[in-house]
Amino acid sequence: MSKRRVSLQTMKTSLIFLLAFCRPSYSFVLPTNAQRSSKSTACFGIGEWRDTFFNFPGAGDDRRIGTESGPPPKEVCILPFPFVEVLLQGETKQLRLYEERFIKLFDDAMKNHSGVVAMGLLADSGIIQTVPLCEIEAYNRLEGFGIFVTIRAVGRAQLVEIVQQEPYLKAVCTELADKLPPNLELPNLVASNIENFMLLLSSMEHRLQQAKAKNGNTEQEEEDAEMERRINIAKLDDRFYQADDDEDSEEDIELDRRARFRQAYEVACSTDTQGYCVVDKTSDRTPQELTAISWAAFCTELLLEDDATFRIQALDSDSLFDRLKLASHMLRDKKAQLRVKMQKAGLKFRGEDLDEDEPSIDEMI
Ligand SMILES: *[C@@H]1O[C@H](CO)[C@@H](O)[C@H](O)[C@H]1NC(C)=O
Repeated sequence: MSKRRVSLQTMKTSLIFLLAFCRPSYSFVLPTNAQRSSKSTACFGIGEWRDTFFNFPGAGDDRRIGTESGPPPKEVCILPFPFVEVLLQGETKQLRLYEERFIKLFDDAMKNHSGVVAMGLLADSGIIQTVPLCEIEAYNRLEGFGIFVTIRAVGRAQLVEIVQQEPYLKAVCTELADKLPPNLELPNLVASNIENFMLLLSSMEHRLQQAKAKNGNTEQEEEDAEMERRINIAKLDDRFYQADDDEDSEEDIELDRRARFRQAYEVACSTDTQGYCVVDKTSDRTPQELTAISWAAFCTELLLEDDATFRIQALDSDSLFDRLKLASHMLRDKKAQLRVKMQKAGLKFRGEDLDEDEPSIDEMI
């Protein structure tokens, strides 16, 4: 497994406090002198967890062998989150665990589950049955402050049964893998469509930004100011993600949607540990590349929470093709919204309109 480094120096300052069940996140600034002792857990994780034999109640004798109905069930500890905070393949989140029970959960996950935890996504109706599986990628114990933890989504699972409620949730789950169509021609078409949308949306957003810079705020001043504030918060996140690769350069350059897509694609690709057995020589993209696109497409909004319902649907989907189509629909909605904004700003479409009369790929499928 490639060693993934997370620099705590550039760790974003907004950390999640895990309280009773869900609470909003608060800002918390790391003391500088404590930043250098973060421990990386690069050597274990999902691979080791998959190979672990768990002795949970009710487990049958076929625990180690994958049955026809899927991989063998495994045990996992569950960290609760509001569903809007869902992480998709490759995405990371920083947490500060300070409650006794979550520190116990952390120790259990590190000792007994190869550093793998599940995100328990809480909706009104309860916990969502599909959970992101995350590796504890780095952590830092600070006396009096609890544990600062970086988790990264590396897979998904279905909860089968909750086996422990107190002091923290523990469940039996089975890993979820995508169904791949035997022929990748149509998925490839939709993937191209997604890439085109990314270009188009980026260019529309650039033009809107330029227009705004020229005119200053005329109407909608309040809305714009709010958006500005939210984007500035999100910029902090961007800077954090960039720091994975390069700590000093390009810190102040805001990535556009296309660049964010590309970055999410790289990360989704490099963290993917699913085996793929379909080899379709006729398609341009490999199943792994298509899968990475199907995740990255949901990771381009500056405020990911705005796409939360789509992201949950993506998480829930066990079909690569369905997820690609969902992404394409979502992006088409975004385009329609941007078009309205451009109209309001008095901007004419240049070429961006051309595809309107052509049959869209969504209708062809
Ligand atoms: C690891 O699992 C064992 C057996 O279930 C349990 O007794 C032990 O407390 C666990 N370790 C931690 C740190 O929770």
